[in-house]
Amino acid sequence: MPDNSAVTEILERPTTPPEASETPVQPLLPPLRLGPITVDTPVVLAPMAGITNTAFRRLCREYGGGLYVNEMVTARALVERRPESLRIIKHEPDEVPRSVQLYSVDPVTTGHAVRMLVEEDRADHIDLNFGCPVPKVTRKGGGSALPWKTKLFESIVSTAVREASRGNIPVTVKMRKGIDEDHLTYINAGKVARDSGVVAVALHGRTARQHYSGQADWDAIKRLRDSLTDIPVLGNGDIWSAEDAVRMVEQTGVDGVVVGRGCQGRPWLFGDLQAAFEGRPERHQPGVSVVCQTLLRHAEMLIPYFDGDERKAMQDIRKHVAWYFKGYPVGSKLRTQLVTVESLAQLQDLLGQLDQSIGYPGEDAEGPRGRAGSPKKVHLPEDWLVDRELNEDQRAMIQAAEVDTSGG
Ligand SMILES: Cc1cc2nc3c(=O)[nH]c(=O)nc-3n(C[C@H](O)[C@H](O)[C@H](O)COP(=O)(O)O)c2cc1C
Repeated sequence: MPDNSAVTEILERPTTPPEASETPVQPLLPPLRLGPITVDTPVVLAPMAGITNTAFRRLCREYGGGLYVNEMVTARALVERRPESLRIIKHEPDEVPRSVQLYSVDPVTTGHAVRMLVEEDRADHIDLNFGCPVPKVTRKGGGSALPWKTKLFESIVSTAVREASRGNIPVTVKMRKGIDEDHLTYINAGKVARDSGVVAVALHGRTARQHYSGQADWDAIKRLRDSLTDIPVLGNGDIWSAEDAVRMVEQTGVDGVVVGRGCQGRPWLFGDLQAAFEGRPERHQPGVSVVCQTLLRHAEMLIPYFDGDERKAMQDIRKHVAWYFKGYPVGSKLRTQLVTVESLAQLQDLLGQLDQSIGYPGEDAEGPRGRAGSPKKVHLPEDWLVDRELNEDQRAMIQAAEVDTSGG
């Protein structure tokens, strides 16, 4: 049995008086229906490469309901059964539904990958990644570059839907607004995806050019919601708190929200989101001791995820340290030691050096975290923007182009 002490401790310390939760409440939204799947709390953990593995997903889902998507897996690598891909699509026995995000640039490989997931009973939900802005992906026409080529996009989505339907598995699409403000694709892509049979679409309100800079465009999310009246639309971008999620729903009319960076180092956000969607005011405001317990437990769970390789698990947990302690008074020497931690015992020792009685720091622990930066040039295949159809060279490139990559 996992040790639930961290969760219990936080839940025992709501920030509002207990009687507040006894008032009758009105849910913000009805459950999210994705084909045969009902998600009672219409909240999705955004797929994040290098983050949303079984360990982190467990921490998040222990706090609240929702759909917890894995890290994206490349269709080609999956079909080739590369060990890292098989690790990425792992789910724990109690994880239901099992949600897998696929990245692919070519319909044939997409079909093989979806068929494999269906025939081997490895997923209950499949999301397709058309949002990745990293150069190594867009340079091959993949991720956020791909919906520009309408027929290719349609072909990938409809192949995935057709193969997935053999197992009654719903397919969704996650995308950005487009390549840049002059090459927006989201309204057209939303309609094509719907006509191809997806059960929902999620929009990250940024273009590829924006990467993670600026602010997500919630007006675009509303425009998509208004133009796709017959399937659920999910909004994504810059939800840092439960209040932000409520605001997004109210401003855009979306059927659910997708939360990425806001939960990095803060899996309890899913508890806040569930409370907010149920109309309850409780929010988690953990002190240092709960943060330490959660970080330690996260690290412990990464060890089995990496097949017992403690060193790899410690390398992985390092990137979470700054997120967990955002706003908490942790000295720079200790922070440096934590981000170079080598073993679980050392991590335990370092965390033990912190004053466990320190409470929640308030505002300093809130707000943006994780990737940000400035707009970036979008690297595209030659002549990609000239036409919305593939030319011969591009077609040949796509067939050879499945890349081994990660990131969104
Ligand atoms: C570290 C990191 C990895 C990501 N990996 C993926 C991915 O594998 N697939 C995907 O569709 N999006 C990926 N994304 C994008 C997120 O899913 C999400 O769309 C984006 O972060 C905006 O949401 P947010 O403002 O809530 O963070 C990634 C984002 C980050 C920060």
